[in-house]
Amino acid sequence: MTATVKTALITGANKGIGYETARGLGELGMRVLVGARDAARGEAAVKTLRAGGVDAHHVPLDVTCQDSVRAAVHQVEERWGRLDILVNNAGINVEWPAAQPSDVSLDALRTTFETNVYGLVAVTNAFLPLLRRSPAGRIVNVSSEMGIPAWLEGSEMPAITGYSVSKAAVNMLTVLYANELRGTSVKVNACSPGFVVTDINHGVGQLTAAEGAAVEIRVATLDSGGPTGAFVNDGGRMPW
Ligand SMILES: NC(=O)c1ccc[n+]([C@@H]2O[C@H](COP(=O)([O-])OP(=O)(O)OC[C@H]3O[C@@H](n4cnc5c(N)ncnc54)[C@H](OP(=O)(O)O)[C@@H]3O)[C@@H](O)[C@H]2O)c1
Repeated sequence: MTATVKTALITGANKGIGYETARGLGELGMRVLVGARDAARGEAAVKTLRAGGVDAHHVPLDVTCQDSVRAAVHQVEERWGRLDILVNNAGINVEWPAAQPSDVSLDALRTTFETNVYGLVAVTNAFLPLLRRSPAGRIVNVSSEMGIPAWLEGSEMPAITGYSVSKAAVNMLTVLYANELRGTSVKVNACSPGFVVTDINHGVGQLTAAEGAAVEIRVATLDSGGPTGAFVNDGGRMPW
């Protein structure tokens, strides 16, 4: 191991945009830690990444399980000592078809928040000590334009209430973490990959997972002049 190789952990990296983010960061020469809650799916992703020349390792990680999060931190600390990039990519949408606020179930809201919001906070807080050891720590919170009120104004899309509200929370958390960590080497930004064909939307997106991952990769590799507390999509920084 050389001191200059960056280590990046991507949650939910066994498929979809997370997998392509792992591949893209690996192709930039980074060591990529494939966060996956299912051992077989995680190992399969690592195998494919390695076959493509990427230095990939499976980190078992269910973001909704504190024991799993603790074990992941232990594994990363023992083996690599620090973390340079954390991509909080794992996410779910349990509302299909879409649910208006007047008929969203509390179960759907709770389930969505468990992964998209509480899971993100649990993973971020647990890995922050390792990220602070990096000379240029980067946290990427994978959000969505569906969490931005201005983007939804006048939209004819049906509301996906729990999902949208969870991503709005992710956007606010991003600003709060960025403010708390201002003056440190750690930058925290949110991004939207766009409307991507993956399992989360039952394959109805428009972009490929690799195209969606491009934004995550860009935000994960911001240099010291880059923003913190920003929301970024493929068009650049977006006010919200
Ligand atoms: N696709 C889009 O159009 C779109 C648009 C905007 C934002 N996003 C965001 O992009 C991110 C990636 O989504 P995707 O489109 O690539 O969807 P996806 O193909 O369904 O992938 C989601 C990933 O998250 C993992 N995951 C779910 N719950 C988890 C948990 N509790 N612990 C650990 N991992 C968990 C899944 O693992 P399993 O395989 O084990 O289920 C999977 O690896 C999400 O945050 C999503 O909200 C997607």
